[in-house]
Amino acid sequence: MHEDIETILISEEQLRVRVAELGAMIAHDYQEKNLLLLGTLKGAVPFIADLARAISLPLELDYMAVASYGNSTESSGVVRIVKDLEGPIDHKHILLIEDIIDSGLTLHYLVDLLQRRNPLSLRICSLLNKERERIREVSVDYLGFTIPDKFVVGYGLDYAQRYRNLPYVGILKARVYEGESRPEKRHESVAEKGALKKI
Ligand code: IMP
Ligand code: MG
Repeated sequence: MHEDIETILISEEQLRVRVAELGAMIAHDYQEKNLLLLGTLKGAVPFIADLARAISLPLELDYMAVASYGNSTESSGVVRIVKDLEGPIDHKHILLIEDIIDSGLTLHYLVDLLQRRNPLSLRICSLLNKERERIREVSVDYLGFTIPDKFVVGYGLDYAQRYRNLPYVGILKARVYEGESRPEKRHESVAEKGALKKI
């Protein structure tokens, strides 16, 4: 285990098993459909890479990168598109792949934006779901795991751009961000200065 990790929340093996299950469900539901897996950069990359290989159907992959403006308490959900889709989606079934749902603001904004482009259908698949009160309710169609309201890293998730390459999901030791206050607060202080929060 990495020295900055307090507890492994979801092991490599648990991830492997659950991703295979999700892949089988998705393959079952999207037979004969023009499926586009749409991943959000950067956090969802390991998940979408494993998930895509667990779906035994023809499919396309694309990515969007977004940054959200924050206010003093949370991300505002007002999103700037850093990288957009390559083409129109009105003839495709979109499955949006996320790493984690926290406040729900970012996902809510993305869903709104994609709906306006008239896809044949739009569903959400998230690896993790934080057990907390949402600011925006979002309905997740395929969910990997529900986790406690703790700051986690690994399998795509970062703290200050690090730990994305850990093969498991773990809780970060407090000493890693001590002095900076909690990781969420660190983003807030950046947001307060009017900067963009990369998600
Ligand atoms: P929200 O749902 O708009 O609050 O933002 C979700 C985004 O915040 C995710 O896509 C992550 O990039 C980031 N995030 C939220 N919780 C965590 C965490 O525990 N670890 C790492 N990133 C997180
Ligand atoms: Mg993200």
